[in-house]
This record gives sequence, C-alpha cells and structure tokens, in this order.
Amino acid sequence: MKLGEKLMFGFAVLVAVAAVGKGVRQFGDTEPAKPRNYYEWDEAGLEGHVLYRRMGCNSCHRALGVGEIGVAPVLDGEGTRRTREWLAEYFRDPAALVPGTAHDGSLGPDFRTLRTGERALLVAFLAGLKANPGSPNHPRPPPEAVVKDEG
Ligand code: HEC
Repeated sequence: MKLGEKLMFGFAVLVAVAAVGKGVRQFGDTEPAKPRNYYEWDEAGLEGHVLYRRMGCNSCHRALGVGEIGVAPVLDGEGTRRTREWLAEYFRDPAALVPGTAHDGSLGPDFRTLRTGERALLVAFLAGLKANPGSPNHPRPPPEAVVKDEG
C-alpha cells in the first residue's frame, strides 16, 4: 500500500470502531424516555372527550395538542395541575373558585346549565390529561389551589 492508501485505510478503521462503540453504548441505554404528556382514561373519560369535542371547547382551549392558544388556559396537564375535587367544584360553580369566571356564561359555556352526568364526564376527561415533570404543561399548582389548601 502507498502511504496515502495506508492513511485512508487507517481512517476507515477508526470510523468503523467509533460507530460500533456508539452502537454498543446506545444498546446499553435501556431506560426509555418518559412522555411529557400522557393520558389516563376510563370509559367515562373517553365519553367526556366526545362531549368536550361536541361542545366546542377547542374553540378557546387546547387539549391533546389541538385547539386555540391564548384565549383560555391550555388544558393539557390539567389532571396533574388540578385535583378531581377542584374540577368537580369548578363545573358545579365556577365563580366560587374563579371570581369573574368566563364560565358563568359571560364568555365560555355556562357550566351551571350542564347536567350532573355531563359534568362527571367532563371531569373524567380533564382529570385524565396528565403531564410529567419537564413538560411545559407541568407547572406548580396554580395560586388559588394553594390558597384553598391553606384555608
Ligand atoms: C369562549 C371561550 C371558552 C370556551 C368555549 C370554553 N372555555 Fe373553558 N375557560 C375559558 C376561560 C377564559 C377560562 C379562564 C378561567 C375562568 O374564566 O374561569 C377557562 C377556564 C377553564 C377551566 C379551568 C382551567 C384551570 O385549571 O384554571 C376548565 C376546566 C375549562 N375552562 C373547561 C372548559 C370546557 C370543558 C369547555 C367546553 C365545555 C370550555 N372550557 C369551553 C374560556 C372558554
């Protein structure tokens, strides 16, 4: 082999060794990455999703990565930020938790006009919208939830 050929051969061997080494290291990484958002629904949660879509909640909110941004809170991660109890109370009487709420009919749908069964389905849907730490939808609990815990 000429000097140039030797150098080329040596370089090719180095690249091959590096590639195999990288493959071995990746093979060792068996821990799969956690999803940032995930979903936990029973039958009621799935029915709640149908109701959510039918009522046009997407025209102000974003959930499952679908819907408007900037009009109303993003609901992905809602089931991690809020408890089921908070959600149930919000659907029963939103103004009791959020003074001046949009959901007394002033802007959003008036939740007080929902039937009890419909509220339960929406709670089941929203409670199943979960987020892991590291997701932009995984902030600390909103201030009013903290105040309520202290009271
Ligand atoms: C016309 C716009 C609009 C529509 C349509 C709408 N919302 Fe809202 N929603 C808001 C606004 C604004 C807020 C901010 C908080 C408030 O005003 O109570 C909100 C807040 C919420 C919250 C509380 C979020 C939190 O954790 O603080 C939930 C839950 C919610 N909406 C569910 C729904 C559901 C379910 C529907 C469909 C039945 C819906 N919204 C349709 C405007 C809307």
